[in-house]
Amino acid sequence: MLRLNTVVYKIDAENPRLNLAEIDRAADILRGGGLVAFPTETVYGLGANALSPEAVKKIYEAKGRPSDNPLIVHIARADELGAIAEETPETAKILMSRFWPGPLTLVFKKRPAVPYETSGGLETVAVRMPSNDIARLLIERAGLPIAAPSANSSGKPSPTRASHVEYDLGGRIDMILDGGPAYYGLESTIVDCARGAPCLLRPGAVTLEMLREAVGEVAVDPAVNSKTEGRPQAPGMRYKHYSPLANVTVVRGPQAGVVRKINELAAEYAADTGRPPGILATRQTAALYDKERCAVLILGDRGDPPAIGANLFNMLRKFDYYGIGQVYSEGFDEAGLGLAIMNRLKKASGYDIIEI
Ligand code: TXA
Ligand code: MG
Repeated sequence: MLRLNTVVYKIDAENPRLNLAEIDRAADILRGGGLVAFPTETVYGLGANALSPEAVKKIYEAKGRPSDNPLIVHIARADELGAIAEETPETAKILMSRFWPGPLTLVFKKRPAVPYETSGGLETVAVRMPSNDIARLLIERAGLPIAAPSANSSGKPSPTRASHVEYDLGGRIDMILDGGPAYYGLESTIVDCARGAPCLLRPGAVTLEMLREAVGEVAVDPAVNSKTEGRPQAPGMRYKHYSPLANVTVVRGPQAGVVRKINELAAEYAADTGRPPGILATRQTAALYDKERCAVLILGDRGDPPAIGANLFNMLRKFDYYGIGQVYSEGFDEAGLGLAIMNRLKKASGYDIIEI
């Protein structure tokens, strides 16, 4: 693959119009069929013209992504949906009015204008209206729906900072807009509205509780909680995902037991390999681990799930950069945002979970 000169522009997150010249250059690249990574409130996305098969193919090449894994189409205004989705079911209308713009992706029947390259060969299309001002301004200035998967190399944890994108995709894409750390740090919630009753395909910052409060019953795709033998509805859930280079083991249960078990496993690993393991701790527990022999990172306060969600991918990447081979992570309660946090931890660990 040709090595590109990847231009990085810092954009003022509070007031992106101060950087309109840079955003317009990015919009020009998108209109010309190129690739631009940009911040969203969830994770950084790798954008291309969603209506151009050639542009979208470049996304798959740059990421090393299997071409049957469909992309999310990003729009700046709700009235752009009509050109992409065949019909808007009632439940989708309610969810859009409650959660757009924001970290919610909805799956619709696609219009023919959406190429199969974008939909991964499916008759449906996933659509999201991000709340991040840089993302919205970029889409608006490009005047196009923008297909954007997370801007990581396929299989790596999603990027929550521009530096993560540069590390994975520098030289493979045309431009990166650096808008600082992503607010939620976890990919959007995905709900399928195309087959009648709504179904949660991927948990995110719009929680299952929030969805049910808005539209009543919402089914949960089995792939959300466990490694299913069946075919998950979101093709992306098939692949080993969000995984750092390190082997990850999650230990879940009452705090004292979890700390004891992690200390035991960490000491064994250090003795066996002569290398320091990584530990993903919380404010409440960090002091209880052996900092002399382990790389201890604090995800956040156990009472502050948004902080834990925002830090998770950054810390998994830090362990990779430090060359850590084994990570032990505390587990979390699966209520609210905890469902999304545990879903990513389960995937990162390949479902290696020890219950205390
Ligand atoms: O927060 C996000 O959603 C980020 C930012 C950039 O918007 N994007 C993101 O994209 O996470 P990606 O490609 O990493 O994940 C998209 C997921 C995949 O699991 C894919 O299989 C699923 O959405 N998906 C896309 N189109 C679909 C469809 N038509 N039906 C079911 N699942 C779909
Ligand atoms: Mg992704």
